[in-house]
Amino acid sequence: MKTKILTKLTESNNYISGQELCAEFGVSRTAVWKVMNQLKEEGYVIESIPNKGYKLVSKPDILSKNEIESGLHTNWAGKKLYYFEETGSTNDDAKRFAAQGDAHGTLVVSDKQNAGRGRRGREWVSIKGDNVYFSIVLRPDMSPAKASMLTLVMALAVANAICDVTGLCARIKWPNDIVVNRKKVCGMLTEMTAELAYIHEVVIGVGININQVDFPDEIKETASSLYLESGQKIMRSKLLQSCITYFERYYDLFMQTQELSGLMEEYNAMLVNLDAGVKVLDPKGEFQGISRGIDAQGQLLVEHDGVTEAVYAGEVSVRGFYGYV
Ligand code: BTN
Repeated sequence: MKTKILTKLTESNNYISGQELCAEFGVSRTAVWKVMNQLKEEGYVIESIPNKGYKLVSKPDILSKNEIESGLHTNWAGKKLYYFEETGSTNDDAKRFAAQGDAHGTLVVSDKQNAGRGRRGREWVSIKGDNVYFSIVLRPDMSPAKASMLTLVMALAVANAICDVTGLCARIKWPNDIVVNRKKVCGMLTEMTAELAYIHEVVIGVGININQVDFPDEIKETASSLYLESGQKIMRSKLLQSCITYFERYYDLFMQTQELSGLMEEYNAMLVNLDAGVKVLDPKGEFQGISRGIDAQGQLLVEHDGVTEAVYAGEVSVRGFYGYV
């Protein structure tokens, strides 16, 4: 009921009478009053005027199950939601819930991770109160060989959500880092449980640096947050809701063909190094070329020495000529 009342308050610019809430949700006036008090305690500013009703004036920047659900209007993504104030790693949680049978689209969100994991065994430092860490469980009916494309689908969703919610010009650094002003603001870790020809589940984990102010010296030059880049504090729940909404839309489009032909154009338009020089860090030998965007399989096309080579994300990393981007 709390989520329903919060949704109603969020969606209305006007006063809503207690009577209307009671009738709509079949509860007593005291029950409505109690929910209002709980919300006020959590930091929501709610005006209540006798004979007029309640009006939401402002929201705190909190991530709670109610807050996330109250603005998430999707068909399947995030319909089942777990929220933790603190956890080890949302990817580990999501894998555990998936193994227990939770549905496609199950979302795990946390305000803090104590064992956040990055790619290639690196740590993902996950402080409390400023950022968002989430993982989504997917059960696509397709070949495991295609699963890596799903990370590109998520990258496109997160980049669009950042642009919409913050007004910043977010770009994708192939395959799935999100950068703003050439600094990394978001990373993704995709993990899969599969048999040779059958995916049990894919978990995509996303960490977005939202309102973080300080970064460790080792990453100061290459990492940033949306707050540092925009000068405005960002409502984390709003950004999360937007990411999940975009992701559902793009995932459904992707699954129509199980390749990126329908999303390629949008993805390439957001690619940070499109038509620019890149260094390809290939274990077989580093080379330089011009990035020409992705193909329908999500490989990066790099033009060098008169040929166009398709490079695969699992094998190589790409850098700009002068640094990370
Ligand atoms: C990277 O760029 O190295 C990937 C970072 C991925 C971090 C996210 S935060 C939510 C999810 N849980 C984890 O432990 N990792 C991912």
